[in-house]
Amino acid sequence: MSGIWSPDSWRQKPIKQVPSYPESNKLQTTEERIAQFPPLVFAGEAKQLEERLADVAKGKAFLLQGGDCAESFFEHNADNIRDFFKVVLQMAVVLTYAGKSPVVKVGRVAGQFAKPRSSDTEVIDGVELPSYRGDIINGIKFDSESRVPDPERMIMAYRQSAATLNLLRAFANGGFADLEQIHNWNLDFVSGTPQSEEYARLAEKITDAMAFMKACGISSKTTQSLRSTSFYTSHEALLLGYEQALTRVDSLTGDWYATSGHMIWIGDRTRQPDHAHVEYCRGIQNPIGLKCGPSIDPDELVKLIEILNPEDRAGRITLIARFGAGKVADHLPKLVQAVKKSGRTVVWSCDPMHGNTIKAATGYKTRPFADVLSEVEDFFAIHKAEGTHAGGIHVEMTGKDVTECTGGARALSDSDLGNRYHTHCDPRLNAEQAIELAFQVSKYMTK
Ligand code: PEP
Ligand code: CO
Repeated sequence: MSGIWSPDSWRQKPIKQVPSYPESNKLQTTEERIAQFPPLVFAGEAKQLEERLADVAKGKAFLLQGGDCAESFFEHNADNIRDFFKVVLQMAVVLTYAGKSPVVKVGRVAGQFAKPRSSDTEVIDGVELPSYRGDIINGIKFDSESRVPDPERMIMAYRQSAATLNLLRAFANGGFADLEQIHNWNLDFVSGTPQSEEYARLAEKITDAMAFMKACGISSKTTQSLRSTSFYTSHEALLLGYEQALTRVDSLTGDWYATSGHMIWIGDRTRQPDHAHVEYCRGIQNPIGLKCGPSIDPDELVKLIEILNPEDRAGRITLIARFGAGKVADHLPKLVQAVKKSGRTVVWSCDPMHGNTIKAATGYKTRPFADVLSEVEDFFAIHKAEGTHAGGIHVEMTGKDVTECTGGARALSDSDLGNRYHTHCDPRLNAEQAIELAFQVSKYMTK
């Protein structure tokens, strides 16, 4: 791909997954309004994230990326954000301790609203309506009014993202993430489970080490990295009109950045090299994720990397492999070998969620926890065999006690799914399953 890039050059390209807004005037004026709003993140932060991801690419750090499949307007409250952040902190401690290297924490949060759909419409009891595409586009309720795409929702998503980010920044820097608080990150409903006991033992060891360091004069009072943490945001850059409105020039370098989040990714359905989503992403300088599902071909992958990262900057590209349990060996080695042969630097991350979605007999979309684990285990084994770094995981998770994925320590079954099935899109790991996953990953890391 070549040609002059501009924040709107994607409009000249073929595009998939576009909502049909009934009033194009209102869409345009709304985008113009958003273009006047302050950026949500600062370019310097995105650059800093690229540096940290460069360490992941070089095998010196690990990426933990996770959060909702789709954030919702309805579930926006402080408790959800706090509990999500607590689980991320706990997972990061588990992974840092096992890997003896830094964990780069990136949320699917503060902007993860737009969803690609496999069908433009949904039929229930003979009634056909437009599919739900995420709260930034239309409403989830199955009635004709809710399903009409409404540009005003972009403004609501922007404001929700700003409020969420504000609280996350406060948690990261205001004392909540202080390692001395490690015992307080535990969530009440997780207590009594094997992984909460394992976590308590780990926290005890860290507390001991901290007491020793304190005696030597190093504590969270003296050392900023013990008292605060870095936390970054990410989402799928699907709704390009919204992304364009938040694309800004970095006054320090003159480069273009997406200021809707620190990192954005291209979904598995919209990664055609000559299409709009790749065109938009090639011109902005944030770290870019690229979902790699079973249909990606090794040559096409290398071509995409060349388009998106012509200068081969380490940390610019994160490949997020999502094949499904039992299918990793069919796809991943070929891709890893092709990238190695091309000499390109990437972060390899594993999304063990999107290839493992099934429909339970009860009608709920779910993911068996055993399949999630199996995909991550194969991902680690293949990287070990190829001599490359298994750089990270990308998961759909929440800090709440939901019942959306089956299995895990409490052996949730199909018949439990109806109890607390709250997701607006795909099934998420609950807090307990997310921590259990972190412990399992720590075992694969040290194997
Ligand atoms: C997602 O991450 O929610 C998603 C839709 O993933 P993918 O593009 O890999 O299907
Ligand atoms: Co999803």
